[in-house]
Amino acid sequence: MAGTADKVTEVFDFDREIDRRGTDSAKWDRYAGRDILPMWVADTDFAVHPAIPDAIRQRAGHPVFGYTQIPPRLIDLLVARMRERYAWEIEPDWLVFLPGIVGALHLACRAVGRAGDPVLLPAVVYQPFAKAPGFADRVNQPLPMTTRDGRLLIDFDALERLAPRPGQLLLFCNPHNPGGAVYREAELARLAEFAERRDLVVCSDEIHCDLLLEPGLRHIPIASLDADIARRSITLMAPSKTFNLAGLGCAFAIVPDADLRRRMKTNPYIVPHVNIMGLAAATAAYQFADDWNRQQCAYLAANRDYLVAEINRIPGLRLDPIEATYLAWIDVSALGLDDPPRFFEDAGVGLSPGREFGDTDFMRLNFGCPRSRVEEAARRIRAAIEALD
Ligand SMILES: Cc1ncc(COP(=O)(O)O)c(C=O)c1O
Repeated sequence: MAGTADKVTEVFDFDREIDRRGTDSAKWDRYAGRDILPMWVADTDFAVHPAIPDAIRQRAGHPVFGYTQIPPRLIDLLVARMRERYAWEIEPDWLVFLPGIVGALHLACRAVGRAGDPVLLPAVVYQPFAKAPGFADRVNQPLPMTTRDGRLLIDFDALERLAPRPGQLLLFCNPHNPGGAVYREAELARLAEFAERRDLVVCSDEIHCDLLLEPGLRHIPIASLDADIARRSITLMAPSKTFNLAGLGCAFAIVPDADLRRRMKTNPYIVPHVNIMGLAAATAAYQFADDWNRQQCAYLAANRDYLVAEINRIPGLRLDPIEATYLAWIDVSALGLDDPPRFFEDAGVGLSPGREFGDTDFMRLNFGCPRSRVEEAARRIRAAIEALD
């Protein structure tokens, strides 16, 4: 008989095709009734770890759903997680729970600086970044990007040519959406040094931190580098991408500096509480689903390997290596299309237009789905491109 040290690992089935029609899925309902594979918005088509619906059912078993505090168990899990994964000692009261990361980007824009101030942000990035400064009466100051060894990164040399004002906000995204790059320690240290020298506040969106697809890579929260960058940072994380809980609205910021934290919390009547089910799901996910996520990342890495090979074999397309996320940032510029999103929809594949992220040369494909669907998408794309001219 196996000893207690031989932990039995449950194997999860990411190949399973789950019909999401009739669930009001934003991703699937966009193309309801049309033969278009939905590979746009960033949720996956994978069933979550069973502990998550169990936790929701258990909470739903109690018939009162009043105002809820953050479960102490969730706080303990997050403090331990930061320590174990990043050797980052956080205090429980640094945590600010929020219903979403996009809202947190908007809060950060209001919390730092004054009306009219420029906000630095990557020139190519997840679309809501570019909208946040304007809604807070700030203006966008794009950070030039560069592709180095196939990794789409902030151009650190160009950064030095900028002259930000002291106290300005810099929005950062690591791992990067849409490029999938994972910033290395030396790169983060360079950014942190810049922020310290220029007296900037860094709001670092690290929502994809648990979706690393390369075994040798590790995520490093920029705030964990040293005490100086920590005190000028807002780190944003959530279980939503990792554990596929986007519809449950639960996220958190880690804000070591008390004054900055207070300013992040100055809109309490605008930002709603995190809902009960989101808290139950997050607690279960962080407690029970890391092994599920390890298997998910291995599955995604295989999807990624297939897709990178396949897309690069199609004339006119280029796909650089993807270090993290389940998002493929495909250069379609060589095809010379008038309307790329329309072309791919006509091909039967619904992608996110690159223009939404700041680069019209690209389209973004979500490969967080069973392999069979990734293969079908590649087939459809190849056929449509071969039929051109
Ligand atoms: C970098 C990044 N930040 C934030 C979000 C969305 O976060 P939320 O749904 O919590 O607002 C996404 C979703 O794709 C994302 O990729």
